[in-house]
Amino acid sequence: MLGILLWLLIAYMIGSVPFGLLVAKAACGVDPRNGGSGNVGATNVARLCGTRYGMLTLVLDLLKGVVPVWAGMLVSTSPLFLSLVALAALLGHVYSMFLDFKGGKAVATTIGVFIPLAFSSLLASALVCLLVIWRTGYVSLGSLTLVTIMPAALLITGCWAYIPLALGVMALVYWTHRENIARLARGEEKSWQKKKHEEA
Ligand code: G3P
Repeated sequence: MLGILLWLLIAYMIGSVPFGLLVAKAACGVDPRNGGSGNVGATNVARLCGTRYGMLTLVLDLLKGVVPVWAGMLVSTSPLFLSLVALAALLGHVYSMFLDFKGGKAVATTIGVFIPLAFSSLLASALVCLLVIWRTGYVSLGSLTLVTIMPAALLITGCWAYIPLALGVMALVYWTHRENIARLARGEEKSWQKKKHEEA
């Protein structure tokens, strides 16, 4: 029991590392909490510092999901244990111990946790997500699409053990995107592109 709690704590601490803040400060000297959407995620770093740094943040935030789950798989293949490890990493990202228990919106880290857990379901959901982003320019809408499709994709591919995790992630990501949802409803959502954002 103590071992499990230690694993969850380590996953939470890994999830807490605010890569978006570190990359944005190092790359262009800005605090993403004070610009754009105010988020410390890859989309806002791309918006404020450029696509290259947004992509770097995406990869680093994604690794915060991949690494704890892969490491957890070396200890146990129990879906319940791995789901808890994934959730701990995601909660670390959203409620970071390094950012006064505030943080990002959990999308990149969600992609990261599902890479080792359910790759084919993730791939199908991510393709639809990319299509939505490509057609609209709104990463938030693509992110919401991804987490909405994921439980159905898991059902179709027979990966039922991770459906509870996907439903929990969906609730978390809808919660972290509540302001994006309100902006989308008002037609005021920010594009991921700097130029479009400045014009908006
Ligand atoms: O990954 C977060 C994305 O879905 C929305 O980001 O900065 O537009 O609120 P942002």
